[in-house]
Amino acid sequence: MIAVTGASGQLGRLVIAGLLEKVAPDTIVALVRDPAKLADLAAQGVVVRAFDYNQADTLAGALAGVDRLLLISSSEIGQRVAQHQAVIAAAKAAGVGFIAYTSLLHADTNPLNLAVEHRATELALADGGVPHALLRNGWYTENYAQSAPMAVAHGAVLGSAGAGRISGAARADYAAAAVAVLTADAAKPAIYELAGDEAFTLADLAAALSDLSGKPVAYQDLPEADYRAALEGVGLPAAIAAMLAESDTKAANGALFDDNHALSEVIGRPTTPWRTTLESALNG
Ligand SMILES: NC(=O)c1ccc[n+]([C@@H]2O[C@H](COP(=O)([O-])OP(=O)(O)OC[C@H]3O[C@@H](n4cnc5c(N)ncnc54)[C@H](OP(=O)(O)O)[C@@H]3O)[C@@H](O)[C@H]2O)c1
Repeated sequence: MIAVTGASGQLGRLVIAGLLEKVAPDTIVALVRDPAKLADLAAQGVVVRAFDYNQADTLAGALAGVDRLLLISSSEIGQRVAQHQAVIAAAKAAGVGFIAYTSLLHADTNPLNLAVEHRATELALADGGVPHALLRNGWYTENYAQSAPMAVAHGAVLGSAGAGRISGAARADYAAAAVAVLTADAAKPAIYELAGDEAFTLADLAAALSDLSGKPVAYQDLPEADYRAALEGVGLPAAIAAMLAESDTKAANGALFDDNHALSEVIGRPTTPWRTTLESALNG
């Protein structure tokens, strides 16, 4: 049995879809806070079980019979270390044989504030007594694609990443890597630094948006505080705006760059070109 946490999320859904192409539905366990959200998967024969990281006492029971587990990092920033520790302890108690964890690119040395919880989780895995693989995911290109229509409408991409190169890949690429690791004949402990084959700067991104839309779009590099204020101005919660602006500033110095091509190697094909992801976002 292969179980996936965060199965209702965007990455989780893609992983389950990929697993369904490779293994029987009744060998997949979709773990989700609210099982009603995955009624469509249950109807296809996937085993859907309730799994809330904050209900530590219930987690081991939900992992009964599971051989391999994908722990998709929680989206509740600030609470993730305790949540992930609870999952790791439950996996050990339930006799899970292998955990793959979605970490952050170069988590051991990455200067992003976001890396702190990933590093702590990696340490918990090292101490947890269950063989594991670290899927250190780089940035999703979708992080930029979702704001592409707004950038075109305003003729500007805003950011603080300067000329920093970002090795983004599509969520579907990271999902395919997780599927490959989970379904390998032998589940091997390993560290994968996963990133897109092709890196882009935010100026490249603006130029591509201009090209794709036929409208002028320029990159405007802002000091971190101004970018944070701009993100808050479009309605993002203060903590998220601060996290994104800080990440962008660190990306200026290469924190989101990698050119080892491990992702395309694991998935057996080139990663999705960033321009393709932008194009899909613009075309709805
Ligand atoms: N590399 C990147 O660029 C990047 C960007 C964004 C996020 N991430 C990380 O990658 C993860 C997956 O990305 P995504 O796009 O799939 O995020 P997402 O769509 O926001 O999905 C997050 C998932 O976490 C689940 N979750 C949150 N709190 C939970 C809890 N207390 N107990 C159980 N499940 C809980 C959510 O369940 P519900 O449906 O119940 O809310 C959802 O299924 C994120 O959670 C985040 O850690 C990476």
